[in-house]
Amino acid sequence: MIIYKSEAELEGMRQSSRIVAVVLGELEPLIRPGIRTRDLDLYAEKRTRELGAVPAFKGYRGYPASVCISVNEEVIHGIPSGRILQEGDIVSLDFGVLYEGFFGDSALTASVGQTSPEARKLIAAAERSFFRGLEQMKEGNRLSDISAAIQQSVESEGFSVIRQFIGHGIGRALHEEPQVPNFGAPGRGPKLRPGMTLAIEPMIAAGGYEVEILEDGWTAVTRDRSLSAHFEHTVAMTENGPEILSARTTDAARPRTSPLKESPNA
Ligand code: MF3
Ligand code: CO
Repeated sequence: MIIYKSEAELEGMRQSSRIVAVVLGELEPLIRPGIRTRDLDLYAEKRTRELGAVPAFKGYRGYPASVCISVNEEVIHGIPSGRILQEGDIVSLDFGVLYEGFFGDSALTASVGQTSPEARKLIAAAERSFFRGLEQMKEGNRLSDISAAIQQSVESEGFSVIRQFIGHGIGRALHEEPQVPNFGAPGRGPKLRPGMTLAIEPMIAAGGYEVEILEDGWTAVTRDRSLSAHFEHTVAMTENGPEILSARTTDAARPRTSPLKESPNA
């Protein structure tokens, strides 16, 4: 069952997603050669708690950290560790929080120092496909119009869409209905209606889309070990189309203020 959010619930979603945006936005400039992935995770957890929220992934099905940090051929669910990021790596940060009963979830992939043109093209393709999907969020369209647009965008750039992991509804639970695949035929699934809140999250690969899970039981890597990128926002369907709830200041998608300066659930 899809849970359509009231205006008050949407306001809760804005607040949790804004905390995700602030923390991810602060992590981004820390991504540089020499930093340990664990340091990024510890920073995120500390900032999240300062902002009065709880990391959403820590303890979720036994996941041991606050941020999923996936390097190069790692697709998602990489576990922060003593690994030191090297010039030329690409790194995906996937991060969620729970704040006053609502979840927010967002991911980005960034270059560590100078990266290859192919790596940068892959990162840009993941982000672009998200926005191609978002453009489909208009009344009258159906859920799989988003999926099909993402797939078309990714494949038109010569990359592949991961099949084994998909986006999801989000709200008072981290994962709600509906499932939001990043592939498939258009025109299927429920009509897009105001109040739907979705985590749209294309995961793509430079090579094939098959993945395998490493010994740690979490880290998903491309089977051919080709590079992978991920881009995700928590978005709401409104009367006026999509609203990106986890937009970062740098996205310029909408005006922003500090979560600290806003009264919770005003
Ligand atoms: N964005 C991912 C998801 O929606 C993050 C979950 S990671 C986990 O499933 F560690 F919490 F599982
Ligand atoms: Co997600």
